Amino acid sequence: MPLKQLYTTTIGCQMNVYDARQMAGVLAPLGYAKTDAIETADLIVVNTCTIREKAEQKAFSFLGRLAKYKEANPNLIVAVGGCVAQQEGKAILKRVSHVDLVFGTHAIFRLPELIRKIEETRCRLVDVRLSDTLEQDPLISAPVAEGEISTFVTIMRGCDNYCTYCVVPHVRGREASRHPDRILEEIRIQVDNGIREVTLLGQNVNSYGNKEGLCSFVQLLEQINDIPNLERIRFTTSHPKDLSPELIKAFGRLEKLCHHIHLPVQSGDDVILKRMNRRYTRSLYLEKIEKLRESCPDIGITSDFIVGFPGETHEQFEATCTLIETVRYDGLFAFMYSDRPGAPAAAFSDKISESVKKLRLQTLLDLQADITAQKYQAMVGQCHPVLVEGTSRFLETDTTPGVKVDDACDLVQWTGRTSANHIVHFPEKAAEAGKSPLTGTLATIRIGGVHAHSLWGRRVSNNEVR
Ligand code: 5AD
Ligand code: SF4
Repeated sequence: MPLKQLYTTTIGCQMNVYDARQMAGVLAPLGYAKTDAIETADLIVVNTCTIREKAEQKAFSFLGRLAKYKEANPNLIVAVGGCVAQQEGKAILKRVSHVDLVFGTHAIFRLPELIRKIEETRCRLVDVRLSDTLEQDPLISAPVAEGEISTFVTIMRGCDNYCTYCVVPHVRGREASRHPDRILEEIRIQVDNGIREVTLLGQNVNSYGNKEGLCSFVQLLEQINDIPNLERIRFTTSHPKDLSPELIKAFGRLEKLCHHIHLPVQSGDDVILKRMNRRYTRSLYLEKIEKLRESCPDIGITSDFIVGFPGETHEQFEATCTLIETVRYDGLFAFMYSDRPGAPAAAFSDKISESVKKLRLQTLLDLQADITAQKYQAMVGQCHPVLVEGTSRFLETDTTPGVKVDDACDLVQWTGRTSANHIVHFPEKAAEAGKSPLTGTLATIRIGGVHAHSLWGRRVSNNEVR
């Protein structure tokens, strides 16, 4: 079969990154091979996100820029997948005349049949059917890229939580979990492909399997923990209201489970939390943080925040700041609230102005930057096992003591993460690096200092330690 070129671009969350790989996997039997050259592609798939207004704008502006490729090659197929596709459906065909296919988040496995039909008839198609189950869950395990050692595995789709600002339950549909056997098989295949770390994905992993009567999330983790040659397990995201004592205890107990949790709180104020329909209070959240640290003292904790939720007063925003000061996160993502069509908060009154939202966002980021800097500084001198992900551009050689700029050309800069998810760079003589490639191994690094968003250090021994 002649090889056709597939170009994919992904906007949005890790689930979209996973979906893009699945898309490439299902299209391979049709003769499509991935390319980085958009100009010569036969099929362009734009995997979109609608969680915040900005992401949706980005999707449409990218789509607009594709007109010139379609003009140059009328046989080019332009397909739009992901959340914007799911939500907008055929409106996208009307709005963007060079789009051939709109396929929703549940249509990935129907992609080959849709593309084949377009190839044969040059028709324009829309498939945004949603289903409440994962009745179609073929094991695809599209190959990971050469040298990749970490990958995502989706364990559940959809969300039943209905936070008032959020479009996900309206777009991605009801929560549905994959069967553990499929998940385990997929991870085993990926470990055979060289993967050493998996990040399990779901909107709310703590309710994994509940509906279907499958095993619990912790039982799933236990089984994944037993997979030989897998070094590390991560997961995201856990809803604070559902974070169970069993999962909290698993952090100290399952040796492959990384000491990191992403626990989005969104706000530190009880009234706002209630209006967001988060179904926990500030004190309940703080109690869980305390228990996590009791169970696993060195756990890295990160979170998501929304500033400028409708009606958020200055005092309520201050409560978010004091929560950040109390928890002292290892990192956070902060977003300015944006209306999402279909999400109840879009109809709330007392919208906050863009300028106030911007100011609050900056205040929050500055606050966290100070905390991160202090936390990084406290790590200097400590040794941490780092799972090496590969090499990176040499950073600020002049600020890395012991590395003269003249020597830098003989050095390779390696990059990896600590169990708590801190990024660490360390230099190594190029010749030595050639002899024993470090990618995929656990290296022990003594932290020497801090960059703006990462740490640097030195490898202290060749021993691979947990
Ligand atoms: N406006 C701003 N941020 C949002 N998020 C979700 N919906 C919105 C919205 N309407 C943020 C939340 C969530 C993260 C993935 O995106 O913080 O945890
Ligand atoms: Fe959206 Fe809330 Fe579900 Fe997360 S838990 S996907 S914020 S509805």
